[in-house]
Amino acid sequence: MDVKTLKIDDQLISARGDETILEAATASGIHIPTLCNLQGVSLWGACRLCLVEVSGSSKLLAACVTPVAEGMIVQTQTKRLKHYRRMIVELLFAEGNHICSVCVSNHHCELQDLAIEMGIDHVRFTYQFPDRSVDISHPQFGVDHNRCVLCTRCIRVCDEIEGAHTWDMAGRGRKSRVITDLNQPWGEAESCTACGKCVNACPTGAIFRRGSTVAEMEHDRSQLEFISTARTRREWVQ
Ligand code: FES
Repeated sequence: MDVKTLKIDDQLISARGDETILEAATASGIHIPTLCNLQGVSLWGACRLCLVEVSGSSKLLAACVTPVAEGMIVQTQTKRLKHYRRMIVELLFAEGNHICSVCVSNHHCELQDLAIEMGIDHVRFTYQFPDRSVDISHPQFGVDHNRCVLCTRCIRVCDEIEGAHTWDMAGRGRKSRVITDLNQPWGEAESCTACGKCVNACPTGAIFRRGSTVAEMEHDRSQLEFISTARTRREWVQ
């Protein structure tokens, strides 16, 4: 087996040659914040919360998509990284309508968890207060685009785990948004199997089970582990 030896936060680590920095760090108990990453589906590397410093590289690298290398020296908690991560989370809060107290995902939200982890109690950027649509045409589920962070986890689980390919991305820049079946209302999306995997994979309250209680949201989140272990990325690639 191809084994690489590297240092993460001064800890000497051995990792398989096909592992990412994030996988190697996680396996060694080193926490790196993530948002778009979801174990078991393809890598995306979009949110940039998992940025790390790698000696010899002038750029910050996303740990979730950067493979380990022999002799690599990685820092995950420098002042610069904490500064950028905090800024990313604040920008996400400013860019959407994340009003935790009235959100169906309150206390079960990865964006909220990140804010708590980083000690964010205010946002320095101007709130955009977007007025995006809310689709509740599906009898069981709904999507509130104002809470979507465009992580694409819903798209990837739907495509790679369920095989339905109901979700996709449309638009560019600020107009980007997730869509169902070539922009049909979700309730009219014929490819949707109503499996609910997208609900479980959504890190915020953007995709939700209609009329769900806190207990049901807790159950949905517990299913995330099932999704992650259902099919590892390597099994999928093979
Ligand atoms: Fe690595 Fe999003 S978790 S870029």
